[in-house]
This record gives sequence, C-alpha cells and structure tokens, in this order.
Amino acid sequence: MSRFLIVLLACGLMAGIQSCYYDKEQLLYANSSAGCTDSTGTVSYTQKVVPIFTNLCYNCHAGNTPSGNIQMGTYASDKAIALNGKLWGSIDHASGYVPMPEGTSKMTDCQLAVIRKWINSGMLNN
Ligand code: HEC
Repeated sequence: MSRFLIVLLACGLMAGIQSCYYDKEQLLYANSSAGCTDSTGTVSYTQKVVPIFTNLCYNCHAGNTPSGNIQMGTYASDKAIALNGKLWGSIDHASGYVPMPEGTSKMTDCQLAVIRKWINSGMLNN
C-alpha cells in the first residue's frame, strides 16, 4: 500500500514539474523574438507589417482624422513616420516619445522584431 502511494506521489510530482516547464516555455516564447519566425528572412511590408498595424494602429491613425495628427494606413504615410523616427520611438517606448499602441500593452518582442527589421532593411514596399 505505501509503495503504491509513493509511486502515485512521484507521478504527480513529475507531472507537476513537466507542466510547469511547458508553461514557462510558452510564456518565454510568447514575448520573445527567440522562436519568432515572422522576422526571419526578408520582412514583407504587406504580409507582415501591415497586419500588425491593422491590429494595433490603424484604428486610431488611419483615415481622415488620425489621432495626434499622426497619419498611417498607406505605404507612404507608414514610411514617413518610420523615417522621422517616431514609429520606432513610440513602439519601443523610448523616452521622449508617447508610448504606442495607446491604451494597451507594448507590442510583443516578435512584433517589434518584425517592424525593426522592416525599418532597417530600408522600409521596402514589398
Ligand atoms: C487608441 C488609439 C491609438 C492607437 C491604437 C494607437 N495610437 Fe498612436 N497615438 C494616439 C494618440 C491619441 C496620439 C497623440 C498622443 C499625444 O500627443 O499625447 C498618438 C500618437 C502617436 C505617435 C506620435 C508619438 C510622438 O511621440 O510624437 C506615433 C508615432 C504613433 N501614435 C504611432 C502609433 C503606432 C505605430 C500605433 C500602433 C502600434 C499606434 N500609434 C496606436 C492614439 C493611438
């Protein structure tokens, strides 16, 4: 009987440790550019950058009355705020910039890596 209990306890312990391990791994990758495949290779503006902006930015910054007079939503306007440094400053929460996206948490490291790569590779319209 006691041997049975020990085996049961040991199994429970192992299962606990394993699930902890997997939880941590998921947390780690959810907010890390490690394991971020979206930023590998050439980053496409239309396929990778625009979907992020659509989810997090265009609600407020695209259209005729953009918040803070920061126009986004077209290639030319998105490139303009990348060129003047405001795009990266705001999403990286750098000092001297209003942190974006407003009213919600910072982008994930993976999303940031995608935008950073697009900027550093010359903001192609690809
Ligand atoms: C809920 C609305 C909202 C969302 C979503 C939002 N913004 Fe903004 N954004 C604003 C407002 C309002 C301002 C003006 C803030 C101020 O001047 O205090 C602003 C200002 C800015 C500025 C100027 C910052 C500066 O320091 O001059 C940039 C650049 C910017 N937003 C980019 C973005 C980007 C990129 C995203 C998506 C990641 C985003 N915003 C998402 C409302 C929003």
